[in-house]
Amino acid sequence: MPLVSMRQLLDEAAKGGYGVGAFNVNDMEQIQAIMEAAMETQSPVIIQASRGARAFAQDRYLFHLILAASELYPEIPIAMHQDHGNSFETCKSAIELGFTSVMMDGSLKEDGKTPTSFEENVEVTRKVVEYAHPRGVTVEGEIGVLGGIEDGHGAGGTGLEHVTDPDQAVEFAERTGVDALAIAIGTSHGAYKFTKKPDGSVLKMDLLIEIHNRLPHTHLVMHGSSSVPKELQDIVNEYGGKLKETWGVPVEEIQLGIRNGVRKINVDTDNRLAITGAIRKVLWTQPEKFDPRDYMKPARDAMHKVVAQRMTQFGQAGHAGDYAPIAISEIAKGYADGSLSTQPLIAAK
Ligand code: 13P
Repeated sequence: MPLVSMRQLLDEAAKGGYGVGAFNVNDMEQIQAIMEAAMETQSPVIIQASRGARAFAQDRYLFHLILAASELYPEIPIAMHQDHGNSFETCKSAIELGFTSVMMDGSLKEDGKTPTSFEENVEVTRKVVEYAHPRGVTVEGEIGVLGGIEDGHGAGGTGLEHVTDPDQAVEFAERTGVDALAIAIGTSHGAYKFTKKPDGSVLKMDLLIEIHNRLPHTHLVMHGSSSVPKELQDIVNEYGGKLKETWGVPVEEIQLGIRNGVRKINVDTDNRLAITGAIRKVLWTQPEKFDPRDYMKPARDAMHKVVAQRMTQFGQAGHAGDYAPIAISEIAKGYADGSLSTQPLIAAK
């Protein structure tokens, strides 16, 4: 199956009332783990690469690895997404490379650290939409600022400093025409999100529900959605790691989000933990091993297990065969003739 538009994938998820995991990758083994999990659970999937991942793997390696996945698994719809584009140029280069979806994170300036003004965010996001849609490419924007830092990108902090203002979310969706909207509700990137199991004082699910009620047809995106399971932390620490005690986003809260308009759920840290734990275990218990396959295979298997579990929990499992891919050129026509709407339905307060 050719790579598909993320817009198609999310529209289908909205029809089916489920969420789709967007899993970050840097290398071949991570892509293989995701595809094995997608095949096992028959799930459509979003494979995403940050700027850091593109630099680490080199664009053409990464692109061709994901393309190989689409050739090897023709029955699985795959959207290839740029995570946290920091500028128009980053998004343009991803589109030129063949990504079918980009995130323009205009919540931060090009340095990927300093929050922007609302107007700056609208302006750069709108510019990306105007470039992407005629090419059939999906655009995700962000309003509000997430906490933490991932791959050098992020404002830091707890995630509560710049939570999304619902009025701004409505105006942003209206003025930019984005296909998907990432909102800040207290989550942050990385392993250290919460110091105890999060309650409503730190994870603002009420705010998410309020935004969904105002924008009932807009595909919402939850970033920083690793659950950071204790079992994965324990494996890392049992074999010489030094992770401090920490909590992520409970899966039940993500499922509540999915019942309230969340269609894309970003997960990276859980997979990093699974991989690191598996590698540590081999090297710690079998120090005579030196063939990378002896630890990369368990690492890939550990990530496969986490991804398959999330696919089932997010509800995307079993939906790979629900629809045929629409060619990207047809998606472009849909944006042009208005059959793919870019104006949100806005409900009264
Ligand atoms: P986690 O660090 O919680 O996995 O979040 C990843 C993410 O949001 C990537 O954009």
